[in-house]
Amino acid sequence: MSSMVVIGTGSALPERILANTDLEKMVDTSDEWITTRTGIKTRHIASKGDETSKLGSRAARKALSMSGLVAEDLDMIIVATITSEISMPSCACLVQKELKATNAFALDLNAACSGFLYSLDLAEKYIKFDPHLKILVIGAETLSTRVNWQDRNTCVLFGDGAGACIVTGTDQERGMLASNLYSDGSLYKLLYMDSAPSMNKDLIRPGNDGSYIKMAGRDVFKHAVRCMDDAISSVLDQTGVSIEDVSLIIPHQANIRILKSLVDRLGVPLEKFYINVYKYGNTSAASIPIALDEANRQGKIQAEEYLLLCAFGGGFTWGAALFRW
Ligand code: ACO
Repeated sequence: MSSMVVIGTGSALPERILANTDLEKMVDTSDEWITTRTGIKTRHIASKGDETSKLGSRAARKALSMSGLVAEDLDMIIVATITSEISMPSCACLVQKELKATNAFALDLNAACSGFLYSLDLAEKYIKFDPHLKILVIGAETLSTRVNWQDRNTCVLFGDGAGACIVTGTDQERGMLASNLYSDGSLYKLLYMDSAPSMNKDLIRPGNDGSYIKMAGRDVFKHAVRCMDDAISSVLDQTGVSIEDVSLIIPHQANIRILKSLVDRLGVPLEKFYINVYKYGNTSAASIPIALDEANRQGKIQAEEYLLLCAFGGGFTWGAALFRW
C-alpha cells in the first residue's frame, strides 16, 4: 500500500516588513501589548507583484527545484487560500498559468487557516488512487488585503506569504500516516470574513460593512487550544505513536499564547514546536507550509522522524496530520 511523501518544499514572503512600532503609528496599540498578547513582532506585507498567486508561484518554483521536477511534471495543483486576488477563476488556475504547468488540473480549497492540512488530506486521497501522481500543494495568502487597518483587535495579527510542497506516492514505510479533519460551521460567526457586497438586493447581508476579517478573539482562542489538542490526541491514538516519539510539531502559527497553552495541555517542551509567528504573524493557510519549508531547509526534520502538523481556523475548521518523514 503506497503512502504520500513530501519530495520538495518552498516558501515566499513579500519584502516589505511591518513592525509593531509601525502599527503604533496607525492604531492605538503598542509593541508591548502586541508582543505580550500574541508573540508577534513583525509581519510581511504584499506590494505590487506580490499577489496571492504570485507568492504561491514563487514558493512552488522553490519546491519544484528541491523535488527535481519541472512544472510540466505536475498532475494537479491545489491552492489553499481565502485571499485570492480574484474570485473566479481559482488562484490555482493563475498559478498553473504562471508556472506553465500545462498537464495539471487546478483547484482552490477554502478551509481558512486549516486549508493547507485539508489540501494535503485531499492530495493523499488522489495519491492513494494513483501513487504516480505529482501534486503541488500550496498555502498562499495576502491577508493584508482583507484586514480592517483601523481595527486594532485584528490588524496587528495577520501577515502575507506562501508555502508549497510537492507530494507523490511511495512504497516505503514512511510518509503521511494519518490525517484527521473536523469542521463546525455552527460557530462561523466567531471568525469570518464577509464577501464583496451582493449585487442581488434580496441577498444583501445585513451587517456586511466590508469584506474584512471579524473575530471574537477570546472565543477563538479557547476553541483553538481545545480543538488542536483533541485532533492531535486522535491522530496519535489512531497510529499508536506517542507524543514523546514525535520529533517536531509544526502548528498553525496564530499566536504564541495559543501555542503555549497547547504545549501545557500536551505536556511537551516548547522546543518541540517549530515557531516563527514572531516574524510573520498569522498567515492563515500559508503558515504551516512556510514553517515546514523553513524547518526542512534548516535540517530540523530528519529522515524517518515523526512530524506532526496541526491547525485551527475559521469555519471552524481544524485537524492534525502525522508523517514519518
Ligand atoms: N492594542 C492594544 N489594546 C488592544 C488591542 C491592540 N492591538 N487589541 C485589543 N486591545 C484591547 C481591547 O480593546 C481590550 O480593551 P478593554 O479592556 O478596554 O475593552 C483589551 O485590549 C483586552 O482585549 P481582549 O480581546 O480581552 O484581549 P485578549 O487578552 O483576549 O487578547 C487576542 C486578544 C490577542 C486577539 C486574543 O484573544 C487571541 O489571541 N485570540 C485568538 C485570536 C486569533 O489568533 N485569531 C486568528 C485567527 S484564528 C486562528 O488562526 C487560530
